[in-house]
Amino acid sequence: MEKNVYIETYGCQMNFADSEIVGAILTQEGYKLTKSIDESDFVLINTCSIRDNAEQRIHKRLRELRALQTRHPQLRIGILGCMAERLQHQLMEQEDNVSFVVGPDAYRKLPVMLAQVSAGSRVAETELSTEETYGDIEPVRYDSNGITAYISIMRGCQNFCAYCVVPYTRGRERSRDPQTIVGEARSLYEQGYREVTLLGQNVNSYRWHSGEGDVDFPQLMARVAEVSPLLRVRFATSHPKDLSDSLLQTMAAYPNICRCIHLPVQSGSATMLKRMNRHYTPEWYLNRIDAIRHYLPDCSITTDVIAGFCGETEEDHRATLEMFRKVRYDYAYMFKFSMRPDTYAAKHLADDVPDDVKTHRLEEIIALQGEVALENNRKEIGKTFEVLIEGASHRSDKQLFGRNSQNKVIVFDRGSLQPGTYAYVKVTGCTSATLLGEVVDKP
Ligand code: 5AD
Ligand code: SF4
Repeated sequence: MEKNVYIETYGCQMNFADSEIVGAILTQEGYKLTKSIDESDFVLINTCSIRDNAEQRIHKRLRELRALQTRHPQLRIGILGCMAERLQHQLMEQEDNVSFVVGPDAYRKLPVMLAQVSAGSRVAETELSTEETYGDIEPVRYDSNGITAYISIMRGCQNFCAYCVVPYTRGRERSRDPQTIVGEARSLYEQGYREVTLLGQNVNSYRWHSGEGDVDFPQLMARVAEVSPLLRVRFATSHPKDLSDSLLQTMAAYPNICRCIHLPVQSGSATMLKRMNRHYTPEWYLNRIDAIRHYLPDCSITTDVIAGFCGETEEDHRATLEMFRKVRYDYAYMFKFSMRPDTYAAKHLADDVPDDVKTHRLEEIIALQGEVALENNRKEIGKTFEVLIEGASHRSDKQLFGRNSQNKVIVFDRGSLQPGTYAYVKVTGCTSATLLGEVVDKP
């Protein structure tokens, strides 16, 4: 009989992309993906280890699922992703309601493993690979709006930032064959998709070696952009140390490559950046910001920042606030430092900033960023943007929302417009998170 699989995803965009690969591997073998956990035979939880609270959330979810299992004794639970890689033994020993544990490079083994689990075994596969890219697998977009999609272009990371667990959970960096990437983009476009986001932990170091010469990230992006001028191209994430002028020039040459760069700063202090093993100084980072503004004057810039890393002083923290004032980010993901086992920091540094100080510093960054984002948005009032319509607004179905090239959400009256098409929208108002506008004929 056909078995139903329910997939639940936590963490970064890469994990969401991986879940679509898992969906493809399992449907090829006759499993059916279900949106109803109550009707499922297997629950797959794709997990994140980036901060301790991400892992705590999964432990809590496992306790909730225990209750579900008493009502549905046939249900088998598997842990996928970064926590599977990091905590294989602990999960197998301490979580008796977990039947299988699968690391990020072992998803091709899932059909065999599910068969073993059905026969009564508990199994784990967490070997990391230096080659696996799942390049030949066309992801199943089972939870998609049919308009925007992720394309994974590389896996792993070997930058070894002192705070980060990713090199340990996702292994060595490797790039995917550009032909399969462009093929996937073309197929998405033909199915009606109008935006793809190329994903990797550090897309700037994408490189494919072949007999006809190497393909680097700017070249790859140009090839994807050439699929159609109506297909928008985004990418994440760039490491500031590798953000090249040639990438910015390529972006400038293709209007459908979106004007938005996510450039995680992590800290504004030279001492902290060195201790974090980031391989750039605040001056270098600001030089890259200047280069973005030079080649792409209308580009939005977003970031990640960590408050309270090992040894961070009040002065270091003020340097971060100063960086935020200088760059004026359009959006920021802001975190409190969380010590992760196995990292350089865990082995060599002390988690010595008290939690209340971390919280206070984080709140200061959040408050400053809130003001800057609102001021930035106010400057957009009166401008007209081309917007890709994604769907009904969350507030009212008389309104639609879409994004401009800068990735800002704009809400406007529905009229006779349809999701998946482009419209020109003039901005008439804003909050710190959203722009409000009205549809116009042409800019
Ligand atoms: N603690 C807090 N934040 C972290 N990040 C990565 N590791 C940690 C950690 N140990 C943040 C970084 C990274 C983002 C994905 O998560 O800012 O860019
Ligand atoms: Fe993604 Fe990193 Fe979390 Fe893994 S640990 S899911 S790579 S954010």
